[in-house]
This record gives sequence, structure tokens and C-alpha cells, in this order.
Amino acid sequence: MVSRFRPARRLGLIGLLFASAGCSDWLSYDPGSLRYIEAEAMTRDLGPKPNLHGKPKLQAKVRETMARLYGPDPQFIRVPKGAPLMLGGRYLASHLREGDGQNARDRRIYEGDSFQDPKLRPQSGGYTVYRRNCLHCHGVTGAGDGPTAAFFFPRPRDFRRGIFKFTSTPTGARPHRDDLRRTIVKGLDGTSMPAFEPILSPSEIEQVVDYVIFLSLRGETELALIEEASISEEGDNDALGEDIVQEIVSGVFTRWKSAQAQVVNPAVARTEPTRESILRGRDLFLASDCKDCHGRLAKGDGASFVETKISDEIIFGGDPSKMADRVAALPEKVQALWKQKLDEWGNPLRPANLNRGKETTYKGGRRPIDIYWRIAKGINGAQMPGHYPSPFDDRKMWDIVNFVLALPYEPELLTEAPVAPTAGAPAVADARPR
Ligand code: HEC
Ligand code: HEC
Repeated sequence: MVSRFRPARRLGLIGLLFASAGCSDWLSYDPGSLRYIEAEAMTRDLGPKPNLHGKPKLQAKVRETMARLYGPDPQFIRVPKGAPLMLGGRYLASHLREGDGQNARDRRIYEGDSFQDPKLRPQSGGYTVYRRNCLHCHGVTGAGDGPTAAFFFPRPRDFRRGIFKFTSTPTGARPHRDDLRRTIVKGLDGTSMPAFEPILSPSEIEQVVDYVIFLSLRGETELALIEEASISEEGDNDALGEDIVQEIVSGVFTRWKSAQAQVVNPAVARTEPTRESILRGRDLFLASDCKDCHGRLAKGDGASFVETKISDEIIFGGDPSKMADRVAALPEKVQALWKQKLDEWGNPLRPANLNRGKETTYKGGRRPIDIYWRIAKGINGAQMPGHYPSPFDDRKMWDIVNFVLALPYEPELLTEAPVAPTAGAPAVADARPR
């Protein structure tokens, strides 16, 4: 079932792609030795003491299975058959380095190359693009734990659970390939996630999109194997057998594949951003759940979250590795709320400030369709729920989008809003002096 990642010679197209990828510095680049880091659940759920359910045999089986499916280390890439990757994974690497130092020589990967030889190391392709540009934040395993990660808020994404925030697919679904590409090309505005358009060629971007998907598939498989092992009997020799492994892998792949056909397109064209539409959107904002998180003035300070001042103090008020101590010093009630409002990855979370005048940024893009997707389907992993088809229908969706986009230029929309408008009320006449 496992097919070694083996680019074939006959694929001239790939040769062309990589030739135009501007990777002239392969020759000076040595990726060194790298290891995947195991998911924490591996020791928590299967490991020896203090865990009472120590399952060393199953733990070893998970490790072997992972190495067999995805390769034992980042430089020995394997891709199980049927992976949702371009050409079965050939974008992950395209060149190998043979020999060391002055004798080092790069050449294209040929069918039959033995990746087991430690002297052959992948050069260029998604692996290399990732190593150079992403690893210091997102980490070797894609766990969001690269050496610089702790210094950023928000933290770099952990890819291993397959959860992505800025998607065009239904709530909770895997992202579309276009979503990942958009994130990498444009970056996430207002965060440390850079836009790679200026420094990566289009083909390098496709390669690294594949590598992100590869790390997600790998991480999701690992977590599912650990979960399976944690409910299996240590003495059961059939545990984690071929059938169940196959089922896990194909479940992971299917989730990615089906998302590619599920892009949520608005059913009707955008309503013109007329005054009436913007005001209807404003009333929706105030009458629905938006204000609970984003605040009455949309400043990102709603009552459902810990006060901005306290939150800033925790996040920015000192050594990032001492954050837990700062949380522990809070009154019990605030502490409880803080913990309840962490994101899916256990990191601090803040609702966006949607009212910062010209400084207003949107991580997932500022096109009307981007804002539509955020509000319609919510933001995975960030507690922001979806709102379409309920409580918002097609028209309400565009009204709220029109309002969100107008607000930074017209903060009076909220400062001068009637105190408690009701959803669906007739558009309020615009009484402001123009
Ligand atoms: C300086 C640190 C940094 C670097 C370098 C970096 N990222 Fe990120 N990346 C982030 C941060 C921070 C986030 C999460 C932002 C958030 O959650 O709001 C992120 C998020 C992402 C996401 C998730 C988007 C989503 O919808 O959830 C993807 C995909 C991603 N990065 C890919 C890459 C790739 C590929 C590279 C290299 C080409 C890269 N990143 C380099 C910091 C970085
Ligand atoms: C339960 C809390 C919650 C509710 C309810 C909520 N949001 Fe959010 N929203 C968030 C959080 C948290 C973020 C920041 C997510 C992040 O940066 O990762 C966010 C981000 C956003 C963004 C910025 C997206 C981007 O690309 O940066 C927009 C726009 C937005 N929300 C609009 C709305 C609107 C409009 C409503 C009501 C229809 C709403 N939200 C309801 C929590 C919420």
C-alpha cells in the first residue's frame, strides 16, 4: 500500500517546473540532519510512567507504522498511495544531493533511487522550500513549534490536526488547496505570517503547498494512530493491523479530497454596498452574537472574552515562556474565562478589532468574498461560529459584509447607532449629518 516517493524520469514537465523555480542555490544548501518530533499524545496516552496505561508495544507499532507510511525522517520521504498531493507527492522533492563537502553533487531523482542511503538528501522541492522559509516558525513536524515560534502572537499554526482558519469550505472541513495557496502568497495580514509572493516562484509555492498538506496528512495520521492505540489492548497482536491502518489513512485522505469539491460560493451576487444595505448590516451586527465577542464598537473587546487590558498583560507582559505564571496570578473567575477562550491549539485568542480606521486588517483577506467566507462559515479553531444559512440568509450575509467593510471608514455607524436595534427591523433612516 505504501509507495516509495520516486519521481520518474519520464516526467519532463516536472523538470521544466523546477528549472524555472529559481533554485540555483541548491548547491550551497545543506539541509543537515533533522528528526520528526512525536506528538505529545504519544507519551501522554501510550508512554510509560506516570501514565498508568503504559503501552510500549503499541507505542513502538505507531512509530514503525509512521515511518513506513511517511518515512522515518524528513529527508526520507514516503507517500502512501492515493495521497491528495500533486502527482502522488512528486512536488515534495525533486533533487538529491550525493556526497559531502567539495564532492557534493546534486542530481535529479531517478526511479529506483534508494532514499535509505543517508548520503542522498532531497534538494529543492517542497521539502527544501519549507526548510528555508517556514521551518523556523512552523517547526520540522509542522507542529507550530519552530525556534522562533514562542515569540509570536498569534502563534504559528500547528498543521498536524488538519485544522485551518482561513478557508472557503464548510465549517470544520479541510481547506481547499486555493485557501492554502492564498495564505502563503498573501500572508496573514496583521500577523507574523509573511506574504511569500515576492520571494517564491509560482512553482515553489505549489511545492510548499504540497509540503504543508503532507505535514498535515502525516500529523493527522499520527494522532489517529495514537488514538487507536490508546483504546487497544497492549497484548492484542492484531491491534493496529494493516486493515485499520488503511482505514485511518484513507479517512484522512478522504477528508482532504472531499473538501476540494466543497467550496462555498455565495448563492446570490453581492448586494451593492448602498447606505440601506450597510445600515441593515449594522443592525444585524448589534442584534446578533457579533458584539458579544467583537464588542459594541467592534473593537475586539466583547464581554465573552477576558478584558483587553488583562489579555495584553498576559500575552505581551513579559517572557512568553512564563505566560502560565501570569495566568495563574489572575483571580479564579478570570482564569477560568481565559482558559475557556483559548484557541483549538491551546494558544491565546482575541476577537479581531474590526474598527481601527485605516489600520484595520483582515488576516484572511479584505475582498468581499473573504469577509463573506469568514462570517458565513466561521473561523475554524478560533471559536468564531458560522452564520449561514442561519441566522443569516443570502441577503443578510451581504448586508453584514457591506457593513464590516464600511465600518473602518465610518466609525459613526456604531458610535451613533440606536441602543438596541432588532434583527430584521426596517433599515434605520440615516440621521447623521453628511
Ligand atoms: C515568521 C513566522 C512565520 C513564517 C516564516 C511562516 N509562517 Fe505560516 N503562519 C505564521 C503564523 C503566526 C500563522 C498563524 C496566524 C493566525 O493564527 O492568525 C501562520 C499560519 C499559516 C498557515 C495557516 C493558515 C490558516 O488558514 O489557518 C499556513 C498554511 C502557513 N502559515 C503556511 C506557511 C508556509 C508554507 C510558510 C513558508 C513558505 C510559512 N507559513 C512561514 C507564521 C509564520
Ligand atoms: C464567539 C465569538 C465570536 C463571534 C460570535 C463572532 N466572532 Fe468574529 N471573530 C472572533 C475571533 C476570536 C476572531 C479572530 C480569529 C483569529 O484571528 O484567529 C474573529 C475574527 C473576525 C473577523 C476577521 C477575519 C479576518 O480575516 O481577520 C471578522 C471580519 C469577523 N470576526 C466578523 C464577525 C461578525 C460580523 C460576526 C457576527 C456575525 C462575528 N464575527 C461573530 C470571534 C467571534
